[in-house]
Order: sequence, then structure tokens, then C-alpha cells
Amino acid sequence: MNRTITIFDTTLRDGEQSPGASMNTAEKLRIATHLDALGVDVIEAGFPASSVGDFEAVSRIAEAVKHAEVAALCRASVKDIDRAWEAIKIAVKPRIHTFIATSDIHLEYKLRMSRDEVVERAVAAVAHARQYTENIEFSAEDGSRTDPDFLCRIFGAVIEAGATTVNLPDTVGYSIPNEFADLVRHVIAHTPGMEKATLSVHCHNDLGLATANTLAAIAAGANQAEVTINGIGERAGNTALEEVVMAIHTRPGIYPATTRIDTTRIVATGRLVSTITGIMVQPNKAIVGANAFSHESGIHQDGMLKNPMTYEIMKPETVGLTTNRLVLGKLSGRFALRSRLEEMRYNLTDEELNTVFESFKALADRKKQIVDEDLEALVTDVILRSHEVYTLEYLHVTSGTNVYPMASVHLGINGKVMKGALEGNGPIDAVFNTIAAIVERTPELLRFSIGALTGGTDAQGEVTVRMQEDGMVALGRGADPDIITASAKAYVNGLNRLEYFKTNPVSSCESI
Ligand code: KIV
Ligand code: ZN
Repeated sequence: MNRTITIFDTTLRDGEQSPGASMNTAEKLRIATHLDALGVDVIEAGFPASSVGDFEAVSRIAEAVKHAEVAALCRASVKDIDRAWEAIKIAVKPRIHTFIATSDIHLEYKLRMSRDEVVERAVAAVAHARQYTENIEFSAEDGSRTDPDFLCRIFGAVIEAGATTVNLPDTVGYSIPNEFADLVRHVIAHTPGMEKATLSVHCHNDLGLATANTLAAIAAGANQAEVTINGIGERAGNTALEEVVMAIHTRPGIYPATTRIDTTRIVATGRLVSTITGIMVQPNKAIVGANAFSHESGIHQDGMLKNPMTYEIMKPETVGLTTNRLVLGKLSGRFALRSRLEEMRYNLTDEELNTVFESFKALADRKKQIVDEDLEALVTDVILRSHEVYTLEYLHVTSGTNVYPMASVHLGINGKVMKGALEGNGPIDAVFNTIAAIVERTPELLRFSIGALTGGTDAQGEVTVRMQEDGMVALGRGADPDIITASAKAYVNGLNRLEYFKTNPVSSCESI
């Protein structure tokens, strides 16, 4: 039987729980639009009760998404459910996703509730949600460490109360594929009314088994997979969308199932998520890593020339990697830029296009060929970050042999330009010292990494910083052909993200 697996994407909710990966509303909207075009069935837009900022982002996404269902997460409480519904009620297809922990360890130490109380709370939550919508998902947090019979009991009770999807999370990434598949089969066989609901799985990657567990669950009968782009998420992350989708696509004999994902959009969506969150993808990451389709060894290259199928199980084009990439340059006009951006799903207003065009021309003066990665970085810098507190207006740095590294910076702070100049151990240290002095803040720099967006000596440098201040951690990212400028942009971006955390505090939640 050929089943269609529902792809539930939680990049904007569980993915955002990756340390430092907070996104602003404009960034989340951009990702949501791409997820919709990618063909995911459900976009989990956020957790509206957690902060005013999250509520705002979820309702803007609910308004903008045209095809996918938009889900909002909420604890099993009336207040949370009301808030979730308020945020998504405008969506074409809203879904309320309520959850409570079910394992004994969570019941005893975290919730201090009995099993009966938890069932009662879950049923009341679903019944309350039911007055708003018929599209209700219930998750049994820490499901994989829950007594299987209790799991069936609570799933049966919430289905009876109106839940249309029941989700079995491996919250702590503890399961092993055979065991997880057995649990899925047990739930299907012993949950009263299971035939009336969809069984979903949601796996974390603490043992590196999230994709394997998800695929084992699908083979055992689960019909919904909860995933994130590039596998980002809490701790070691969640199941990667691209891995599950491409496994199903590549091995139809093993998984007689399909998804509605347009696989040719996978690479672009992955790039967008890493550009926005600042979480770079490791080069050897399956499907979307920079090396995923490169063949280094002579024997492999020889085989590839004779027949690509000798060493390639998927065609790069299937995931959206093309060799004849459209390249723009100095002579490309506004029309060419707009067409390419539209193909990349950026529908900019005339004013936005003018701003991007100016930056595009400036970049084209310094870099001969502008490819999609460059455009992605440009749009992110110019549009998505245009409403931030701090902006880099001017940078001059002196460094070299026998010279004291010195930086002079003009920084916009809420539109007002402040100036400063300081020295440092090296040019980047001088830049960071100067910016920190201007903003009168001293965030701790936890990590600094530098890479290149594309190949070639004229490639844009890509810098990621990880910063900590007042117990909050944020990632910042910047790209520029000049790596010192890229570093300054990354530092300013990190400061803006820390500022965003401050103004959008996440309320402390008993779980997730
Ligand atoms: O990992 C988890 O248990 C979750 C639930 C809220 C679905 O993210
Ligand atoms: Zn999770």
C-alpha cells in the first residue's frame, strides 16, 4: 500500500530551541514561506504562550501561509490553549498542538501528578481545544520512556475526547530503532480508537539515531514525521527533514510511501535556515552538507565519469543542487536580479528591491560572480535585519606587520550614529573592542568561526560568533568579501539577537 507520510516541520519551534538560534518575526516569516513552498504539510510556527514575540510571530505566520496547516504548541492548560488559538485562528488550516509529559520520571519529579491526574488534564485540554477546532494534536512528552500500556491508555482517552493526531516523542533521544518500532506497533495495536487518528513520531538526536528511529517508526506504521530543516533543535537536534524525505524517496522498495515535499527545494531551504539562524551545516552532513555530493578519491571520480550511479545514490539536481547555476555580475540589471530573487522565493517590494540592488551593485564591484549563496546573504542583511537596534554604518581598520591594529567604527543605535576607535590584539579584536565600547556592553565571546560562502579567493567570508550576556546566548552571522567587515557584521548581528532576547523574554516553562 502506498501511504503518504505527513511532514510536520518544527524548525520554527523546536528548531528555534537550538541554543542561540532565536529568530525575529521577519526571519520566521521568511522561513515559513519557504517551508510552504517546499511542500511541508504542517508548519509548527511557535509556542504563543511563551512570549509576546512568539505570539506575534505565530499570528503573522498564520496569516501569511497559504497551503500548509499552521500549528501552535501549548501546554495542557486552558490559558495556553486560548493563547495558541488566538494566534492561529486566522490561518487557512489551524492546528492546536497540546502536550503533557507521561513518563513516570516526569510525573514524579516535574509535574508531581499521578497517572490519573495526567489523563484527566490531557482529556480536559483536548476537550477545551475542541471548541475551537477539530484539528488537534496531542503529544505525550517523554513518550518513549513511558509505560507502553499507559501510553495507549492516554492516547485512547484523548482520541475519544477529539484528538485527531497523537504524537509519540522520543524527547530525550533515548530510543533505539528496533525498540522504537516495537513501541509504535504496540501503540497501533493497543490504543482504543487508533484507527480514527494519525500516529506521529517526534525524535531527538542525542544518540545520533533520530532519523533511524523516525524511519523505523514509519516502517512500523506511523503516518506523520516531525522534523526540522538541517536537523536543528534542542541539544543534539531533531530528525532532519531532508534525511527522512530523501530516504523515503531513494528507497521506495523499503518504504512504500511518499511525501508531498518538492525535493528540489531542499538545498535552498537548508541554506536559508542556516543563513538566518547562524547555525552552519557540517560539511559531511547527509544531503545538505557541502561535501554531500563531492567525490574526492580518484577511484570514485573514475567510476563517476563512467556512470554516476557507481557512487551516487541520488542525483544532486533532485535536492536542488545544480551545476549550471545562474550567475549574476556587474552588468546584470534590476530585472535579472528581481527574476532570480523571485525564483528563490523572495518577492520584494519595489523599495526593498532598490535597497538590495544597491548592495548587489556594491558587491558586484568587489566580486565577479554573484551566486545564490551571495544573494541569500544580501537579502538577509539588507531586508530581514533592517529593523534592528544596531547597524554597522562605517568601519576602518589598520593592521599589518609592525602596526598596532586599530579600528574606527560608526554604529547606528536606533537610528542615531555613535562613533568610536580602539586598538586590539589583532584587527578583529580591535573591531569587537570598539563596538563593545560604543554600545557599553561586554558580552562574552564564546566562539568565533570563519568560513567562505563559495569557492575562490574573491568568495564572501562568512563569520559566525556565539556570544553570552546576562545568562543569554546568541549566535550572530555576517558575510562580506572582507572578513574583518564580515566579523563586524556578525558581532553586530549577535548584539541584535541578544537585544531581541532581552525584549522578548521567554517565560519559564515547566517543560520543552
Ligand atoms: O521533544 C518533545 O517532546 C517535544 C514535544 C513538545 C512534542 O518537543
Ligand atoms: Zn522536541
